[in-house]
Amino acid sequence: MSGPNKTYDPVEVSALDPIALAQAVAEALAAFAAADSLDSLKAARLAHQGDSSALSQANREIGALPPTAKAEAGKRVGMARGQVAKALATRQSELEVERDARLLVEEAVDVTAPAARRPVGARHPLELISERIGDIFVAMGWEIAEGPELESEWFNFDALNLGADHPARQMQDTFFVDPPDAGLVLRTHTSPVQVRSMLERDLPLYIVCPGKVFRTDELDATHSAVFHQVEGLAVAEGLTMAHLRGTLDHFVEALFGAGLETRLRPSYFPFTEPSAELDFRCFVCGGSDDHCRTCGGTGWIEWGGCGMVNRHVLTACGIDPDRYTGFAFGMGIERALMLRHGVKDMREMVEGDVRFSTQFGMEI
Ligand code: PHE
Repeated sequence: MSGPNKTYDPVEVSALDPIALAQAVAEALAAFAAADSLDSLKAARLAHQGDSSALSQANREIGALPPTAKAEAGKRVGMARGQVAKALATRQSELEVERDARLLVEEAVDVTAPAARRPVGARHPLELISERIGDIFVAMGWEIAEGPELESEWFNFDALNLGADHPARQMQDTFFVDPPDAGLVLRTHTSPVQVRSMLERDLPLYIVCPGKVFRTDELDATHSAVFHQVEGLAVAEGLTMAHLRGTLDHFVEALFGAGLETRLRPSYFPFTEPSAELDFRCFVCGGSDDHCRTCGGTGWIEWGGCGMVNRHVLTACGIDPDRYTGFAFGMGIERALMLRHGVKDMREMVEGDVRFSTQFGMEI
């Protein structure tokens, strides 16, 4: 670029030549007209209107002209630049309109087109029935309790009056966890939650605990190494076997149907005394079909263990057994699901096939 031109050298300001200017304008207009996209228009703009374009150069030269020539040259250059700017703006808006029209077509969304549906999953039926069981007890004012699945032997056995030589502690039933001297097992039943609840909570105490338990069983139609139980425990002054019976009656009716008779058969558990097995009337045949497949023709369905909390257990948990009594029960949840819904094979519950779960509906 030139400095102030005191002498007005017409060669140096050749960019101001009217013919050259007209040509620059013509070239710019042709380039804009030829631009077929906003990008190519941008390139044309930089070439014909940018700092190094002939027109910008001419504009800069004006400053170097003697005052007498300035006005005339300024007018000429200004008109030329105006013409170019106008042509650019026109082409710009034409191309924008074109682009918008194209986008409207290209990006149109057919809101009526059928969508590709993703299959919805379903909650696992064991989860659903566990919640249903929890709800039955919560409705009576009981609380839901939880405990760890990796449990200390003391909670799983000792505090429950299962001595060191009790058969249930043998290797064939229990998953012992390394290192052996850590005294840890995968809980074999939900009863350790009884102990934890008695140690942690105030009396009177009414809790249910649905949860996973573990035993070294092979998976077959009726066994699984991981299954679920629901534990119930009530401790208060004056509780008797009659309260246990009434609670179980209600539980059975709420889960399997009104009017189902229950029966307690004498049994043995180290942590309850007296202990019993709970049976209830077959809800399919009611005891009238010797060949019933649900109850095997016995008329009764065996469901779980129960009893009055053993004094030793109360004592181990710091509760005065002369003042308080308690009852407890523990049932298999898989068994409840198999009975209630006619599931024939345990393996269906552990395989995780969504086609099994969806049969139970999308209960939330
Ligand atoms: N924990 C026992 C079992 O797993 C069931 C049970 C619970 C029995 C509570 C009595 C009282 O077999």
